[in-house]
Amino acid sequence: MLKGFIFDLDGVLTDTAKYHLAAWHELAERLGIHLPPEADAALRGRARMDSLELILRYGHQERNYDEAQKVALAEEKNLRYRALVASITSADILPGIPLLLEKAKQHRLKMAIASASKNAPMILQRLGLASQFDAIVDPSSLHHGKPNPEIYIKAQQLLQLQAAEVISFEDAPIGIAAIKAAGQFAVGIGDADKLAAADYRVSTTDQLDYDRIVAAFERR
Ligand code: G6P
Ligand code: MG
Repeated sequence: MLKGFIFDLDGVLTDTAKYHLAAWHELAERLGIHLPPEADAALRGRARMDSLELILRYGHQERNYDEAQKVALAEEKNLRYRALVASITSADILPGIPLLLEKAKQHRLKMAIASASKNAPMILQRLGLASQFDAIVDPSSLHHGKPNPEIYIKAQQLLQLQAAEVISFEDAPIGIAAIKAAGQFAVGIGDADKLAAADYRVSTTDQLDYDRIVAAFERR
């Protein structure tokens, strides 16, 4: 029986995924690294230091920096990201999300956030959504980033639910992989070619329909 929803944040509740990518592209350019077309899908949902490592690998520069320098590069990206999101408000909640959250509340579902972002609490505050969730996984408490299932298992445990009782929402291929590895039902938001592993998929958040999603979950 369905008892909870677990949400990724960036690219699901709000379109901050584009600001993460923009800030990474700026850093890559400064370092003289040309990111291939597949980089955007690969970076989506990836933890901060994992993202930096991937970018440096694309540029064959992973050995050019020591740990302290890598931390400084990640901080540089984070400052740029924070500048890009400085003016977001509740108007930046993606279409379809307010109604989906309202329906979930009506059905007394528990709700959690499973975002790898250390900026997630700040973004949720700015969106005016922080009080909607029963739990927010603290990414600094995790040992592994997505596609490891740890963050989705943690979210489910914080809600005191079983894997078979939750539906989890993601825009990132590695996020869908994490949900599936956690044994949960995955709703993908984005392109079919990148999110083929999802149990149910829509192209954009305005297509998220509570009844259709739950019907698909019950048919699984
Ligand atoms: C989310 C985003 C990623 C980001 C990661 C870490 O998963 O989708 O793009 O790299 O969080 O975010 P942070 O704000 O902690 O650097
Ligand atoms: Mg995301």
